[in-house]
Amino acid sequence: MNALNPPFSLDPTPFCERRARLLARIEATGGGIAVIPTAPEARRNRDTHYPYRFDSYFHYLSGFGEPEAAIVLIAGEAPKSLLFCREKNEEREIWDGYRHGPDAARERFGFDEAWTIGDFDRKLPELLANQPTLWYSLGYDPTWDARITRALNGVRDNARAGTTAPHGIRDVRTELDEMRLIKDAREIDTMRRAGAISAAAHCRAMAATRPGRHEYEIEAELLHAFRSAGSAAPAYPSIVASGPNACVLHYVENDRRMLDGELLLIDAGCELDGYASDITRSFPVNGRFSGPQRALYELVLAAQHAARAQIRPGAPWDAPHEAAVRAIAQGLIDLKLLSGTLDTVIEEGLYRRFYMHRTGHWLGRDVHDVGEYKRDGAWRPLEPGMVLTVEPGCYVRPAPDISEDFWNIGIRIEDDALVTDSGCEYLTDDVPREMGAIEDLMREHAHA
Ligand code: GLY
Ligand code: MN
Ligand code: MN
Repeated sequence: MNALNPPFSLDPTPFCERRARLLARIEATGGGIAVIPTAPEARRNRDTHYPYRFDSYFHYLSGFGEPEAAIVLIAGEAPKSLLFCREKNEEREIWDGYRHGPDAARERFGFDEAWTIGDFDRKLPELLANQPTLWYSLGYDPTWDARITRALNGVRDNARAGTTAPHGIRDVRTELDEMRLIKDAREIDTMRRAGAISAAAHCRAMAATRPGRHEYEIEAELLHAFRSAGSAAPAYPSIVASGPNACVLHYVENDRRMLDGELLLIDAGCELDGYASDITRSFPVNGRFSGPQRALYELVLAAQHAARAQIRPGAPWDAPHEAAVRAIAQGLIDLKLLSGTLDTVIEEGLYRRFYMHRTGHWLGRDVHDVGEYKRDGAWRPLEPGMVLTVEPGCYVRPAPDISEDFWNIGIRIEDDALVTDSGCEYLTDDVPREMGAIEDLMREHAHA
């Protein structure tokens, strides 16, 4: 690729439409001006930075991936959208790659005006003057908070010239979160592709797993599958947890040698074009589920089926979790890992010893995506276009009151569900979740 040419083609239409929708929502609630900065670059050490990842809100509204940029939206009868970005700099481009600069960025990303980010601190007080409300994510980034505060003070310093500063600051995220929660057709298409890439990566990982290999070797298989399919990076640090590590919910060291007879739990998903996927599978390192592993796996799979059956428009957010909890609690009683009636095990929360997390979360640009879970104190109803995970689990740590057969078994089964008009569609069906299918896949690759 020529470093001085734009690196990709882009249709700005969806981004322009989103800015127009946000502007209309701001206008409908009293008007004002919105400022949405992108993420800062983060230093890793000395002169090396972490791979750059734009801010999810900023990219949702722009499609623009360069650092050092901000969007300004001005509501009103003639709404305007402005982009501030790095200036063109052919010397820097030789070292670091293509920069749009304001002119090309305005045209390509469909903004009304574009300025260099160096103009931002001078222009913002002018833009804020006489606006009723500033819409901004106060408290998210202290550096930007200070910059915005300086600009507000700049307007106030000019009061004798007859200008007024915004009388209120409102959190622009409250509007954007609701927009992002319902995915449009393009977003769903991207999330389907992200789900398919991650599913293929999990199949590759299953095929490569055998006793004696290390967790990091399997992590490398996942990364290979993600990157070679065009994903920029994992959506979150991959969890490749064998044996006792499967009972550590956020295990990320991935450095243990896997042993015969153990299970391997992999929680990994790629990010594609800014959208996350999130899959977990748990399977035997040697390709055959043992008796106790089988018993616990059946319980978790039953919980996932029960949760999935609840997902449809109008169902409350919590319905899949409640169904999963019932299934897991009953299964734990049947296996004599818990004693008592189903009602006491649920009401007293006894199941939490083995199932301590919730059954899902919103999924989108962020793996734990934005959007409220409750409205006016009640779990909100599911709507078509929402995407959530379904991820029941069961984790048994060694303890004297528990049969040794179950020690160190950690199982989670996680898929990504789109709420449709009639129910739900899994975006991650291309990796087996039934025990027989997992064993078949592993057997096919056992001697490869
Ligand atoms: N991988 C993070 C989660 O499952 O929520
Ligand atoms: Mn998840
Ligand atoms: Mn996960």
